Amino acid sequence: TYVVTEQCIRCKYTDCVTVCPVDCFREGAEMLVIDPEICIDCAVCEPACPVEAIKPDTHPDGARWKDLNARLSGEWPAVTVKSEPMPQAELFARQPDKFEKYLK
Ligand code: SF4
Ligand code: F3S
Repeated sequence: TYVVTEQCIRCKYTDCVTVCPVDCFREGAEMLVIDPEICIDCAVCEPACPVEAIKPDTHPDGARWKDLNARLSGEWPAVTVKSEPMPQAELFARQPDKFEKYLK
């Protein structure tokens, strides 16, 4: 399965939601996640994200996001329509340690 990772936090470009053929994406206040129960591993969302937030869960940068995507996809509503990125998304895209700062 694929997972949404750190780069999405405070960015939410939402290009990913328009390409997923099975509507996997779920939306929280600070980021999106992928529902692993629904993802068919088609990989089309990976290049759609302008900040490379989407990775396979087998990728070293993806593995630690697996539990978070699984847990929060059960709590957050589905999102299938693209919206404006978050304010200052360009600035936040380059910030490290966003999980520690904004999601913990
Ligand atoms: Fe959707 Fe395919 Fe991305 Fe899974 S890999 S979230 S099915 S676009
Ligand atoms: Fe997030 Fe990238 Fe989608 S920033 S909302 S994973 S296009």
